[in-house]
Amino acid sequence: MNRNKIALVTGANKGIGKEIARQLGQAGFTVLLGSRDVERGELAVKELVAEGLDAVGIQLEVTDEASVRAAAERVEDSYGRLDVLINNAAIIPEGDDAASRIGIGVLREAFETNVLGLVGVTQAFLPLLHKANAARVVNLSTSLASFEQVGDLESRMSTVLTLGYNSSKAAVNMVTVMLANELRGTGILVNAADPGNCATDMGGWTAARTPAQGAAVAVGLATLGEDGPTGHVYAEEGRLAW
Ligand SMILES: NC(=O)c1ccc[n+]([C@@H]2O[C@H](COP(=O)([O-])OP(=O)(O)OC[C@H]3O[C@@H](n4cnc5c(N)ncnc54)[C@H](OP(=O)(O)O)[C@@H]3O)[C@@H](O)[C@H]2O)c1
Repeated sequence: MNRNKIALVTGANKGIGKEIARQLGQAGFTVLLGSRDVERGELAVKELVAEGLDAVGIQLEVTDEASVRAAAERVEDSYGRLDVLINNAAIIPEGDDAASRIGIGVLREAFETNVLGLVGVTQAFLPLLHKANAARVVNLSTSLASFEQVGDLESRMSTVLTLGYNSSKAAVNMVTVMLANELRGTGILVNAADPGNCATDMGGWTAARTPAQGAAVAVGLATLGEDGPTGHVYAEEGRLAW
């Protein structure tokens, strides 16, 4: 049903990103697996190709402008457009900590990848998204970026002391709303997905949800119909408060 549609997932060599790529491939997309390390990317590509999916690796370090530019040029040359962009790549930097103690360099590192990288990638691919018919952008967010949840002292979210991660993902939420506003009327829908706590290197291997369950939230937003929402954050249970 999505034959001939092209999707790019950043940070797709493992975790939720790889699962998003798998599910988009299963839905008929040609899926480009962004990976900063070519070899790690190729391992994931091989896995998906062996499952019969149309998967292609693409080198993409989101903090490296030259890498981002080269990736956009490659997609332009090969496909001439991009139907879905999933901004999945992110980090919790080593040493992430509470607001009173976090090293400024650590905070900067979180913003470099999670915000500046995401905005840089989105800007580089925007001309190709405009060339697609009704493109979708999905930014991976988290309930740790929710002012409502972190501000609720009864919530587990208020106990996670990672200012770098939480505040950079809150910035991703603002990018989502503002880009969605800017693109209203173009057919491009922009939303954020909270996958929930999933068992990955980042989420911890004891997390209750599988990466596939987390990926499904993003894939739903990547395949919204033309009357779909824009400028919101969704989890499995529905729309979340910021
Ligand atoms: N897991 C959870 O519980 C959870 C919950 C809420 C939200 N999320 C969000 O879901 C997304 C995926 O998380 P995950 O759990 O799958 O994390 P993960 O297993 O740590 O995977 C992160 C991916 O991002 C890539 N990456 C990191 N920095 C990059 C950079 N500068 N350039 C390119 N790629 C980069 C990693 O590449 P390398 O392999 O090269 O490091 C890896 O492919 C993230 O946006 C995360 O914030 C996760």
